[in-house]
Amino acid sequence: MLTRRALLAGSASLAVAGVTAPRAVRAAARRSPLRDPFRLGVASGEPAPDGMVVWTRLATDPLAPDGLGGMPRRPVPVEWQLAEDENFRRVVRHGTETARPEAAHSVHVELEGLEPGAEYFYRFRAAGELSETGRTLTAPAPGTRSRALNLSFTSCADYQSGYFTAYRRMAEDHPDLIAFLGDYIYEYGDYEHPVRDQAGGECLDLAGYRLRHAQHKTDPDLRAAHAIAPWAVVWDDHDVRNAWAGDVSRKRRAAAFRAYYENMPLRRAQRPVGAALRLYRSIRWGAVANLHLLDTRQYRDPYACAGRAGRAGTVGPDCAERLAPARTILGQEQQTWLDAQLRESHATWDLLGQQVFMMEMDWVRGPAQGWSNEGWDGYVASRDHLAATVGAHRRNAVVLTGDVHSHWAGRISRDQRDPGSKPVAVELVTTSVTSAGDGLDEYPDTPDLLAGNPHVRFFNGRRGYVRTRISRREMKVDFRSLAYVTRPDAPARTSGSFAIEPGDPALNPA
Ligand SMILES: [Fe+2]
Repeated sequence: MLTRRALLAGSASLAVAGVTAPRAVRAAARRSPLRDPFRLGVASGEPAPDGMVVWTRLATDPLAPDGLGGMPRRPVPVEWQLAEDENFRRVVRHGTETARPEAAHSVHVELEGLEPGAEYFYRFRAAGELSETGRTLTAPAPGTRSRALNLSFTSCADYQSGYFTAYRRMAEDHPDLIAFLGDYIYEYGDYEHPVRDQAGGECLDLAGYRLRHAQHKTDPDLRAAHAIAPWAVVWDDHDVRNAWAGDVSRKRRAAAFRAYYENMPLRRAQRPVGAALRLYRSIRWGAVANLHLLDTRQYRDPYACAGRAGRAGTVGPDCAERLAPARTILGQEQQTWLDAQLRESHATWDLLGQQVFMMEMDWVRGPAQGWSNEGWDGYVASRDHLAATVGAHRRNAVVLTGDVHSHWAGRISRDQRDPGSKPVAVELVTTSVTSAGDGLDEYPDTPDLLAGNPHVRFFNGRRGYVRTRISRREMKVDFRSLAYVTRPDAPARTSGSFAIEPGDPALNPA
């Protein structure tokens, strides 16, 4: 699976391949105070049949404590090129954007009018220096059923917990699209014994969030994953603050949201307005798949039975609140939007990219029962509504989930509490990039947990990602696992493989 292009995109050697800057430009670069301004790499995202977003952010000193990456407090012109070939002989679009200090010198170029189902290459130039080259794709034309989607997804990348090898292994697979399902950064302060040292302490303000994002983008494995394919991102709690549910100050939320937008390849439609950012949206891959990206953080009701502390945790059968019919994890507006997306879908597959466990999960071993009030178990009415909608429109729904730092796969039924109830969707839960450290394939309590939750078919407790190949005939799923992340460069292996067929929400052994 290791392709030359994947290797090249991850290495600085491609940065000037095929391009010789004029002598005057090279001389200006030597004099320029902006030495090596592309240390945060390049990225693309939000593929559509006619375009996508390409992104970069200038930083000459990514770990500068003010979060501004060592950049001068003035606008800097940034040229960009988009070409059909990686040597930029066939440039199809080019232009100049202004990287402004108030946007942390980030640049989002939204492209339109491109060919559907095509591969493109892009790069930037500023202060006489050239960025590395990124590869990106447009989605197939609407209605196209012949083009499969190679989609990989992961979540939860805590810099202090280990090396970002999972990102490198994803890049080596050369996917069409990478979905990131939350916790791209962790806001935490410094650990006592980190695997890797972070800069800046706990993220509390704009400078802190910008600095954390910048440090992540200095990681060569993460940069390789951004440079190889377009991304589709959603956040979870740590992109703002651990387990937040509407209880974070508007000021802190606005700071986190602004830094998130600045550092992600998102469209203008996702630019935050104060403490609000509309992150839910759909990405369409011909008529093969719609990827509906959900936001279960911003609009959720407070945790059920959380007491005065309002904490997330495990709640027992005495917690009636989690079953209350008015409770929502999506908020009314997003739920109405999702209902319409599912009703009007013409794709073979409807993928729901989101943050927290959707299938029912009894986390207490033995006859006692306990559910997480942070996942959809704490918002049962929302899950029942979604399951009913999926069932009513006979959608082939596959839920893609992050958050729990381990791989899981299972089925969601129309009524989870009724064992005879018909399954309506499959859920694939990805493990983390690093969070929770090296892990184990199986923990001592895993067999008991699985025995108490018969709809759950698979578990693996290592770090990694999920790789899928989605066609109109089937969805193939490989759970990829790394032996370790506390040291660099672990190989990835497939710890579980499944096939899902349209019309039958079951995990068949592959
Ligand atoms: Fe996490």
